[in-house]
Amino acid sequence: MDYGVLLILAALLSFSSPQFIPPYTEDCRTEMYPPNGPTFRGAVSWYTVDLDLPPSKRWAALLTDKKTELVSMIQAIKDLADAFVPSGRLIKLVDITLPLMVDTLPYPFSDEIKGIADVSGIPLGEVVLFNIFYEVFTVCTSIVAEDNNGNLIHGRNLDFGLFMGWDVKNKSWIISEKLKPLVVNLDFKRNNQTVFKSTNFAGYVGMLTGIKPHSFTLTMNERFSLDGGYIGILEWILGNRDGMWMSFLTRSVLENATSYDEAKTRLAQTKLLAPAYFILGGNQTGQGCVITRSRLLSINILEIDLKLGRWYVLETNYDHWEEPFFLDDRRTPAMKCMNQTTQANITLKTMYDVLSTKPVLNKLTTYTTLMQVSEGKLESYIRDCPNPCLPW
Ligand SMILES: *[C@@H]1O[C@H](CO)[C@@H](O)[C@H](O)[C@H]1NC(C)=O
Ligand SMILES: *[C@@H]1O[C@H](CO)[C@@H](O)[C@H](O)[C@H]1NC(C)=O
Ligand SMILES: *[C@@H]1O[C@H](CO)[C@@H](O)[C@H](O)[C@H]1NC(C)=O
Ligand SMILES: *[C@@H]1O[C@H](CO)[C@@H](O)[C@H](O)[C@H]1NC(C)=O
Ligand SMILES: *[C@@H]1O[C@H](CO)[C@@H](O)[C@H](O)[C@H]1NC(C)=O
Ligand SMILES: *[C@@H]1O[C@H](CO)[C@@H](O)[C@H](O)[C@H]1NC(C)=O
Repeated sequence: MDYGVLLILAALLSFSSPQFIPPYTEDCRTEMYPPNGPTFRGAVSWYTVDLDLPPSKRWAALLTDKKTELVSMIQAIKDLADAFVPSGRLIKLVDITLPLMVDTLPYPFSDEIKGIADVSGIPLGEVVLFNIFYEVFTVCTSIVAEDNNGNLIHGRNLDFGLFMGWDVKNKSWIISEKLKPLVVNLDFKRNNQTVFKSTNFAGYVGMLTGIKPHSFTLTMNERFSLDGGYIGILEWILGNRDGMWMSFLTRSVLENATSYDEAKTRLAQTKLLAPAYFILGGNQTGQGCVITRSRLLSINILEIDLKLGRWYVLETNYDHWEEPFFLDDRRTPAMKCMNQTTQANITLKTMYDVLSTKPVLNKLTTYTTLMQVSEGKLESYIRDCPNPCLPW
């Protein structure tokens, strides 16, 4: 039994109402697009990040806008920490130790994080905490599919906030709710031209979802493992710093890799702080893969293979050659809906339908992003999951 399984079992003990008895599934959704109705909370606004500015200045405009929401989010993390270790000792530790860590982070991340702390007035240690938060507890669904014309389509649900405080009254995860107002689309520019685009959380400098227009698309999902993020992060603090933070690697690949093949090589071969899944789509037929990573190396690469009838690859949070944990099976419903859709009918619209079907859509889902590389298109939507709906 792996680590994620234990965590989910632990959480299960705290839910008793019948709607939480898994598996709660429904028929594959249709006609959900354009997004509307109770599963659609709202559109995501766009901001430009100018890579020609010094790193400390890049996030100023965004953070000036989103400061209140970020402060509220960080307050919620502090409240959780207080509930966990009363007397505020945990946050005191964060305020004292994490600022020391910022200078160990590579360029440009350390300067960007300092800039965010300056603009927002939030203590540096707490901004660092917000930036390493996603290396744990992110459960997601990512799909890359090829249509009959060789177009690659990439979709993802970002599910975050597992175990981060359950709001009994609202039947929602406190941290997931606080994250929704922080979701933004970013257009990273150099010389006034788009380098890549991303859906992200304001205040966070790594990338979980992004597109290099006409070249490749990339998402990252967490891979739970005993050799997981905590150990790598601990080693980093203790001075063993040869691994790379996962979401810094995805940012770096989106910013500086120039092709699908280069992106694939870097994602497969760079030493990491924790295991991960990278889901990568290219701009030509057959270019779509799920890279299953240990900290050291790529364990397995599953690729689209039309000859074998594999017109899409799909990843949640379990190795594809193993059965998903039965209490957290988002893979089977997502595959069922992809199979029902058929390659002939896959579009951004039908991909949105798949990502709108419970439990692929669940209480943790903060946003859905759809990307089409040939048009350089990225669009994203804030999501809600009305009851009855599984907590993950
Ligand atoms: C619960 O939901 C209500 C109505 O949607 C909202 O006003 C309130 O802020 C929510 N409470 C929390 C703690 O999120
Ligand atoms: C940047 O590009 C936009 C549109 O692409 C244009 O309107 C604007 O004038 C450009 N700015 C500069 C400084 O070149
Ligand atoms: C991308 O490459 C440029 C030029 O080498 C470098 O300055 C920048 O820091 C790199 N970006 C990331 C995120 O690593
Ligand atoms: C695909 O990407 C490569 C590398 O970025 C680029 O040279 C090529 O022109 C792209 N092809 C299309 C059809 O956009
Ligand atoms: C979907 O189709 C693939 C390929 O035919 C098959 O291997 C898989 O079992 C199907 N999954 C579901 C859930 O229908
Ligand atoms: C594909 O789409 C067409 C046109 O919208 C529809 O007639 C057909 O039933 C769909 N096929 C499947 C398998 O959903």
